[in-house]
Amino acid sequence: MKSITVGITGASGSIYAQSLLRHLCASSEVTRLDLIISQAGVRVVGEELGVNVAGTERRVVRELIGADSDKVIVHSVADIGATVASGSYLSDAMVIVPCSMGSLAAIAHGITRDLIHRAADVFLKEGRSLILVPRETPFNAIHLENMLKLARLGVRIIPAMPSFYHQPQTIDDLIEHFTYRLLDHLGVAHKQQTRWEGSKPRAGERESGRASA
Ligand SMILES: Cc1cc2nc3c(=O)[nH]c(=O)nc-3n(C[C@H](O)[C@H](O)[C@H](O)COP(=O)(O)O)c2cc1C
Repeated sequence: MKSITVGITGASGSIYAQSLLRHLCASSEVTRLDLIISQAGVRVVGEELGVNVAGTERRVVRELIGADSDKVIVHSVADIGATVASGSYLSDAMVIVPCSMGSLAAIAHGITRDLIHRAADVFLKEGRSLILVPRETPFNAIHLENMLKLARLGVRIIPAMPSFYHQPQTIDDLIEHFTYRLLDHLGVAHKQQTRWEGSKPRAGERESGRASA
């Protein structure tokens, strides 16, 4: 049984957060989800998914994932007195998806002016699992140095970089495959059909016995 904290910041890629939350809400292994959305996150979710996730009411979850879930507790990003601001509150893992370069920098430098940064700081100090899903392109040297610093502290940096080896046909295929990678890192079981199992023989090669590249 797991309790997971999810932060959504104002980087592009809100659809990754939506997909991950849908999976986590559906998982029987996950009993509690603490959700925090930054002000910029609210703006970008609005731009990209066309929904309004301002506030902390249950409506926010419905807007974001298209269904109600009583597992999710929505916190105000300004509420630095919320449960997740304390190391005595137990949560197994935190994922910030997507993670802006601004939030990444704040976490790398221990600056905790909002609840997302404070919760991440708590996960670091308590030695708990912290996963960041940064999205920016190109990266400048500051971004790269901050990521290196965090990686050396044990933070898992899983950039929002979709893969293509599973031959996705739709955007949903891309997002779904990336979400499975996050679930693997969170230790949450899923029904992925797209794990890499080595190259499959191409048409014509099966008969000739030639291996594909
Ligand atoms: C539509 C939109 C897309 C953005 N995309 C990114 C992005 O991909 N990466 C990033 O680091 N910042 C991006 N930003 C800028 C951040 O939202 C901005 O730096 C903000 O201050 C981050 O604050 P937060 O970390 O508290 O969410 C974007 C902003 C907007 C409005």
